[in-house]
Amino acid sequence: MLTLGIESSCDETSVAIVKDGREVLSNIIASQIDVHKKYGGVVPEIASRKHVEAISQVIDEAFTEANISYDDIDIICATRGPGLIGALLVGLSAGRTMAYALDKPFVGVNHMMGHICANYISNKELEPPFICLVVSGGHTYLLDVKDYTEFKLIGRTLDDAAGEAYDKISRVLGLGYPGGPEIEKAARNGKDIYDYPRVMINDGYDFSFSGLKTAVINHLHNLEQKNETYRIEDVARSFQDAVIDVLVEKTIRLTVERNLDKIVLSGGVSANGELRRRMEEAAKEHGYKVYYPEKILCTDNAAMIASAGYYDYKTGNYENNVTAKPNLGLENS
Ligand code: KG4
Ligand code: ZN
Repeated sequence: MLTLGIESSCDETSVAIVKDGREVLSNIIASQIDVHKKYGGVVPEIASRKHVEAISQVIDEAFTEANISYDDIDIICATRGPGLIGALLVGLSAGRTMAYALDKPFVGVNHMMGHICANYISNKELEPPFICLVVSGGHTYLLDVKDYTEFKLIGRTLDDAAGEAYDKISRVLGLGYPGGPEIEKAARNGKDIYDYPRVMINDGYDFSFSGLKTAVINHLHNLEQKNETYRIEDVARSFQDAVIDVLVEKTIRLTVERNLDKIVLSGGVSANGELRRRMEEAAKEHGYKVYYPEKILCTDNAAMIASAGYYDYKTGNYENNVTAKPNLGLENS
């Protein structure tokens, strides 16, 4: 079964064709990062316009690379949320129009479910149930994934998402956008010498990263006021360790509590090598296995949306007539 997936929730226009939810025939990603870089973050209005400019060509490229025709497609799907409303509408309208014109079923996909499904593409043997930590630029979710389309949300961030914290600290340190890869690179040459707070580490399953962000910013202001120098690398490392300690501790604790043995990482921050290493190290002590997507599938892409759309379709978990929903939750998707 061939699924066409469209992703346009933020700053990537992406179209993919995926076979049986797991095999990628094409996954074209037109990134707008360079356009938004100079503003230090995504500008929604510019994002929508760039999606409109790119979408037709990206669709054409996806068909050319997969070497198939429109008729070969069985299901068409696009991200319906969460994301930027103007950006979502571009991909969703393109997908719904194609489905109507070609008389194919249409599935409106939850972007966060897409992030989880990226793992089914990269790890062919992976099947639910498992504990999933979704860490992206907009969300931090700790989930009990019971089945392909059945999720129990156990923890979420009360303020900033993990990726958002990376982006903000990167900006404060004068590093680039997106901040995650920049902080990760700087942290490799740094030491964890500043004792930043591990907020709520032993307290339930929700997260909070805003206090950590403020602690880092206040610390830097203090140093600057006292004319004390610091190494960006040490700040990056101390910040990153504080984030990862909390992510690892809560994920392992939940896996123990639920008596599961698989931990799945997803979302942009799961591209982080140190998070992967630390989670694997902690999981090993319990005999758990850790899964994550290949790097290109960690950040936004349409292959993961096509995979999610396939599983939604298979389980009948979809309606043809969907609208964009900027703050779509995962449990009610
Ligand atoms: O999942 P994603 O592509 O977009 C959203 O759905 O939000 O995630 C983007 C986020 C950004 O905040 C970016 O800084 C972060 O993922 N990110 C990373 C790394 N690569 C991307 N964070 C930490 N380490 C990385 N290597
Ligand atoms: Zn995303």
